[in-house]
Amino acid sequence: MTDEQLIVQIEKTEKLLAELAIANKELAFQNQEKEKRAAELLLANKELAFQNEEKTKRAAELVIVNERLHDALMNTVRIAMILSEMRDPYTAGHERRVAEIAAAIGAELGFDNNRLEGIRVAGYLHDVGKIRIPVEILSKPGKLTDSEFRLIQDHAKLGYGHLRKSENFSHRFSVCAVSCVKS
Ligand SMILES: [Fe+2]
Repeated sequence: MTDEQLIVQIEKTEKLLAELAIANKELAFQNQEKEKRAAELLLANKELAFQNEEKTKRAAELVIVNERLHDALMNTVRIAMILSEMRDPYTAGHERRVAEIAAAIGAELGFDNNRLEGIRVAGYLHDVGKIRIPVEILSKPGKLTDSEFRLIQDHAKLGYGHLRKSENFSHRFSVCAVSCVKS
């Protein structure tokens, strides 16, 4: 006997005379619907689990792509810094020192890693405008004339002009060159 069905046995002196089965069709139908719904839910759960797995996989892939882009950006920054240093070997290493000192000050002020990296990159690139100054002036052994000195002073403005054209640098790093111009 189940919830859906009632069986009544009619006996006389221990002899089975008849057996009546009363079926509850409505209950049977409800149970069938419940089973169907449970199967649908199970399927939906499996689909959700699959979608979550795909999302996790995609997120992991995006992390890798992001790391690669970040590495490519940092390599570009280093190349720009090396080119700037090659233009002015007299001050080679200056950009790195400025970057590390600025980042150390930022760390002391409690800036987060993202902001510290921005400061470090700005330090690496803050003199990139020197690329526009003639080598003869950059490495002139004697005293600079007034016009040569003004040209040297313009390197921060020139650097800002270059950096602001770049999507990657315009917001975070060109600000540094602006502050150089103002100071
Ligand atoms: Fe500098």
